[in-house]
Amino acid sequence: MQEQIKNINTLEELQALYTSTFGKNGTMTARLKEMKNLDNDARAALNLENATLRELFKTRQSELEQAVLMAGLQKQKLDVSLNPVPENRGTLHPLTHSLTCISKILESFGYTMYTGPSVEDDWHNFTALNTPDHHPARDMQDTFFLANGNVLRTQTSAIQIRAMETDGVPIKMFGVGCTYRKEWDATHGPMFGQIEGLYIDKNITMSDLIGDIRAFLTRFFELDNIELRIRPSYFPFTDPSIEVDMKWKNDRWLEIMGAGMVHPNVLRNCGIDPDVYQGFAFGFGWDRLAMLKYNLPDLRDLYNNDVRWLKSAGF
Ligand code: DAH
Repeated sequence: MQEQIKNINTLEELQALYTSTFGKNGTMTARLKEMKNLDNDARAALNLENATLRELFKTRQSELEQAVLMAGLQKQKLDVSLNPVPENRGTLHPLTHSLTCISKILESFGYTMYTGPSVEDDWHNFTALNTPDHHPARDMQDTFFLANGNVLRTQTSAIQIRAMETDGVPIKMFGVGCTYRKEWDATHGPMFGQIEGLYIDKNITMSDLIGDIRAFLTRFFELDNIELRIRPSYFPFTDPSIEVDMKWKNDRWLEIMGAGMVHPNVLRNCGIDPDVYQGFAFGFGWDRLAMLKYNLPDLRDLYNNDVRWLKSAGF
């Protein structure tokens, strides 16, 4: 019997033999029924035989099942020369990608990310930033005013005020958000992304500011070395104020960001003593940096969400 099981080659035959052995009228079934008439040794021998045969059936069954599976697989040939169905893979939008890069770099410098509301009140967008009523900077920025006197945030500088109001000093933060102005041409849109950096502590100087800007731009544009030009400028919320230009590939100077030492009035407006604490702030458009990084001619393309353009531009 044992040899017979081992030599069976199909599952059907194995099943038939199993039934004729262990089924209702099977040979082993009949012998087991008579076990009560046997002496102890014979009982033990029958039990052993029963267990061995069952084990053999099980082993042979799984061998035969495995063989059926392998035969089936061998029949299914895979044609690897067939062209695959084209895949539509998503990618990060260039703005998302550049914002992620910027955040990672600033966070590695110890800046913490903050956000704020797009609809701002006059205090956070202007007054606290040392830009009182009738200050020309309010016109300069072509503000969208709301009927209730609030504004669509014209600058993420508003976020630095909120950050100092809630978390106090020392503080090292960057604010991220969309800002809104009445502008529309190839390098200006009515909505654009801005980043605002702020570092206030007891011993912060202009050279800390320039050091961080240089390190940031070098990392962002993945350059070994960059040439910067620091020009004196004017912003109501910084004193002294500077503008930072960077030498671009064709030796052109590009205006990259505004910055300066935070004006004592701004600190006072946030309840901070300017005789103890001081520091710097800087602000730039992150879509403008994306345009430079990816060599894009028109800022507005970034906001049209035209997948054909995104694909043709390599995103
Ligand atoms: N808020 C300025 C703007 O929108 C950018 C800016 C300039 C921010 C100088 C700063 C700064 O923090 O120090 O044009």
